[in-house]
Amino acid sequence: MAEAFALDLANHIIEAEKKHLSYTIAFSGGSTPQLFFSVLAEKYGKSVNWNHVQIFSVDERCVPPDDSGSNYGMMNRLLVKKISIPDTNIHRIRGEEDPESEAVRYSEEIVRNTRSLNDLPVFDQIILGMGEDGHTASIFPGHKYLLIGEKICDVAVHPVSGQKRITITGKVINNADSITFIITGRSKARIIEQIFKNNAKFPASFIIPRHGKITWLLDENAGRFLKR
Ligand code: 6PG
Repeated sequence: MAEAFALDLANHIIEAEKKHLSYTIAFSGGSTPQLFFSVLAEKYGKSVNWNHVQIFSVDERCVPPDDSGSNYGMMNRLLVKKISIPDTNIHRIRGEEDPESEAVRYSEEIVRNTRSLNDLPVFDQIILGMGEDGHTASIFPGHKYLLIGEKICDVAVHPVSGQKRITITGKVINNADSITFIITGRSKARIIEQIFKNNAKFPASFIIPRHGKITWLLDENAGRFLKR
């Protein structure tokens, strides 16, 4: 699955280069993307021209980049350090800063480096994971303000740990040209079943592209309750 998506993403980057277009990607954190980052760097770190690619984070824990929980720290270790890409193309959420002011600053950085549509930033690709509670990005159950709010980025709070996070909001995610969920493991299977059967509403249920396309990449375990 990681290899298939890495190939797909590489092809989109190559297509954008042919059209002399920049390609803006926002990656989620957590554990699922780790294999994908490694495969992407190993297979396409050298064969793809990354100079026109702008890399963002979907969300970040409010910790320094060298903290083991930092999404950027993980992405930098497994992908960014292994590809040839200008530092100015890497748009890091500064988890070490004051959350409220960093959410504003990052929103402005996103606006400066993306196209606009519907008065909102447009990402070419947003890659999402999903937690066992159905959260995505750092949009947790019960935090509806992150789905309906007008902000580009906002401050979230993890419902169990109380950890503060900064996240791109649902409206901006849904404004992307392409949204891809990458979800693996048996622990997500029941939530996936409920989302696809429309039995219950989780934050991930509200990720519905306004004009773009959405792809759910599920491994056998995560998709085990879905009919082929
Ligand atoms: C984060 C992610 C988050 C993640 C899900 C799934 O900061 O943790 O952005 O939304 O995608 O929690 O995490 P796993 O891939 O670890 O299951």
